Amino acid sequence: MSIWRVKPVSAFEADMKKSELKKVLGKWSLTAIGVGAIIGGGIFVLTGTGAYYHAGPALALSFIIAGIACVFAALCYSEFASILPVEGSAYAYAYGTIGEIFAWIIGWGLILEYAMGSMTVAVSWSGYFNKLLKMFGIKLPEWLTTDPSSYTGEGFSMNLPAFLIVLFVISILIKGTQSAAKANNLIVILKVSAIIFVIIAGAFFINPENWSPFIPDATQIIDKNTTHEAYGIGGIVSGAAAIFFAYVGFDAVSTQAGEAKNPKKDVPFAIIASLLICTLLYILVSLVLTGMMNYKDFNPLGKYPDAIKAPVAYAFDIAGQAWAGYIITIAATVGLISVLMVMIMGQSRIFLGMSKDGLIPQVFSKVNPISGTPKTNLMILGAVIATVAAFTPINKLADMTSFGTLFAFTMVCVAVWMLRIKQPNIERTFKVPALPVIAICGICINTYLMINLSKDAQLLSLGWLLIGVIVYFLYGKRNAKLGKQENVE
Ligand code: ALA
Repeated sequence: MSIWRVKPVSAFEADMKKSELKKVLGKWSLTAIGVGAIIGGGIFVLTGTGAYYHAGPALALSFIIAGIACVFAALCYSEFASILPVEGSAYAYAYGTIGEIFAWIIGWGLILEYAMGSMTVAVSWSGYFNKLLKMFGIKLPEWLTTDPSSYTGEGFSMNLPAFLIVLFVISILIKGTQSAAKANNLIVILKVSAIIFVIIAGAFFINPENWSPFIPDATQIIDKNTTHEAYGIGGIVSGAAAIFFAYVGFDAVSTQAGEAKNPKKDVPFAIIASLLICTLLYILVSLVLTGMMNYKDFNPLGKYPDAIKAPVAYAFDIAGQAWAGYIITIAATVGLISVLMVMIMGQSRIFLGMSKDGLIPQVFSKVNPISGTPKTNLMILGAVIATVAAFTPINKLADMTSFGTLFAFTMVCVAVWMLRIKQPNIERTFKVPALPVIAICGICINTYLMINLSKDAQLLSLGWLLIGVIVYFLYGKRNAKLGKQENVE
């Protein structure tokens, strides 16, 4: 049946030869792209929720579990990148193995990760930017920083900083991948330094008593109207789902394969290296945070009601080191720009891959000969992302980004295993060790985390995928290049 048609590896190779993208990215720029996408607001914001509502001091174990889930997926991504170094990432891998309809659904799901992720990141950037302005005594009016449905006043309102930051990032991306990578490298140095600073400075304020008991007994926390099952082993696992957003992004490296100088070797290296660097930093930050501040003090109904919103900065505040909060605000404001940059870049390359295959309109695969970037594609994306970020309460849907990511991870684990069975002799410069064990573990752990996301996020994401299936039958299936070739033959 045509919905199961598979794009042969030889067709991918032919596409790669024709590619007009400039091959400018080396091993370390690719690694910086991974780190640039991973470290964002997540680590500075979600740690309080993870500690109070889920794991207690054992939050570091939640980070380890989420990190392991990502490592399984990262290994599978790496094997694929070593076979098919193309820009479409998980979408392309599925097209080369499972079949068109699956590839489409994964590509559609990746919109949640990249485009929707960019929208939520733009809104959180706006939040940090406002904080930064306040540090200098400037306060923007509420109507200029709030989307219309969250606005409490009367008349027009929009989130202007969120709108403008997207346009700024698009202008960098349009110029060329090399200049974007240079800007990313600088930002990455800054934000990794800030995280290391948090770890070292915070270590002086650790009270080891806050780590005891390290795994509090499982219990129910009663909030205003809701009850949460927290702590114990269950709390550690649900904590991993709650903080998963902090890991979203490393797979963006695979979307840059079309611009890598030596993709078959460097993309697998960069995926794994960026993930390991960030996992280590995250484990240390969570240990320091829960050592500085007792997890119970993150209770929003307790003595520090705001601590859960900005836990890392707050912990320093309470230790009498308010200046550290300024450094964190600056690092997050600048650091989120690179998350946004990599996510939009990733989305544009996935659309580029889908468009080359005829599944979405051709306008997305036009590459500008001077800059070597998909300019029109980026401009359309920029307009949509900036508008949604400015005018809708999209940040309330951040969990859908985790859903889209976990869904793609699961599918990549399935696809890598399938390709090993179907084409065992194909050249692989990187091989997942102990397959199928790693793929099965990846499938189980990523699916489990998906099930642990909020019910709203699950329902909305499934609704989104369902819309995707309809669009596929109305547009993708009819226009797929493989389908047209079949008709000619
Ligand atoms: N991982 C990115 C962040 O935490 C998306 O902001």
